[in-house]
Amino acid sequence: MKIVVIGGTGLIGSKLVNKLREHGHEAVAAAPNTGVNTLTGEGLAEVLKSASVVVDVSNSPSWEDAAVLNFFVTSTRNLLTNEAAAGVKHHVALSVVGTDRLSESGYFRAKIAQEKLIKESAVPYTIVRATQFFEFVKGIADVSMIDGKVHLPSVLFQPMAAEDVATAVSTVAEGPPANGMVEIGGPEQFRVDELVRRRLVSLKDSREVVADPNALYSGAKISEKTLVPGNNARLGETRFETWLTQPAAQIPSVPTKPNAA
Ligand SMILES: NC(=O)c1ccc[n+]([C@@H]2O[C@H](COP(=O)([O-])OP(=O)(O)OC[C@H]3O[C@@H](n4cnc5c(N)ncnc54)[C@H](OP(=O)(O)O)[C@@H]3O)[C@@H](O)[C@H]2O)c1
Repeated sequence: MKIVVIGGTGLIGSKLVNKLREHGHEAVAAAPNTGVNTLTGEGLAEVLKSASVVVDVSNSPSWEDAAVLNFFVTSTRNLLTNEAAAGVKHHVALSVVGTDRLSESGYFRAKIAQEKLIKESAVPYTIVRATQFFEFVKGIADVSMIDGKVHLPSVLFQPMAAEDVATAVSTVAEGPPANGMVEIGGPEQFRVDELVRRRLVSLKDSREVVADPNALYSGAKISEKTLVPGNNARLGETRFETWLTQPAAQIPSVPTKPNAA
């Protein structure tokens, strides 16, 4: 199958393209530096020619409220219009567990808008909602700073390895459209503040992590189960302690932008 991966040069996208190629598919990495820009529409019609499936694992370069909303609305509209014209049979998009519970956050309002456009489109779809990536845990600290300390509420959290995200998304892309939502998560639950503290220690980062019930997550108030997937979630295999010993954990994190996903 020809499978176009929008954001195919990113953290998840690059792993996904490799997996799909290993499975024998014609996987095409589409991103601005491969000549495909979903915001302007550049290169979209060409890359989608004879594609069966499109997987959107792109992300906005800016997470400022208006910019991120514009990114997900404009790029998703452009994509779905071009997919319908090209006869694409399955649109797969990566979203975040709890998105609908996080509407106080500008980033998550943009993800809600992305999901809505997909559901309303004529293109068959599957939305994969993943929990936070292990690779992103340091990024959570970076965007949760108040007066030099990390402030986070001590709520449940079930993060997963980017490698397991890519595996789960590849399985979805190879299967039929669910015309609905699939949740994926990590094999273990933690407290957010506790895991961020462990991650900072592993990086020899001396910042203090304060358990603060009033602290916001990406600009939104969250409670015990906001970030936790439901009982039907497909779980990744990689445990946090195992991941810490892997090369992926030696890279501090994905680049941090204002307002964490
Ligand atoms: N971080 C988390 O813990 C988490 C959890 C669950 C779900 N998610 C979701 O996972 C998705 C992917 O995240 P990620 O961390 O893998 O992203 P990432 O590493 O930042 O990669 C983003 C990709 O989007 C591409 N892109 C940017 N602007 C584009 C445009 N105008 N047209 C086409 N492609 C464009 C980038 O291309 P260039 O490299 O050329 O700029 C890059 O390939 C996001 O939708 C996010 O909401 C994240």
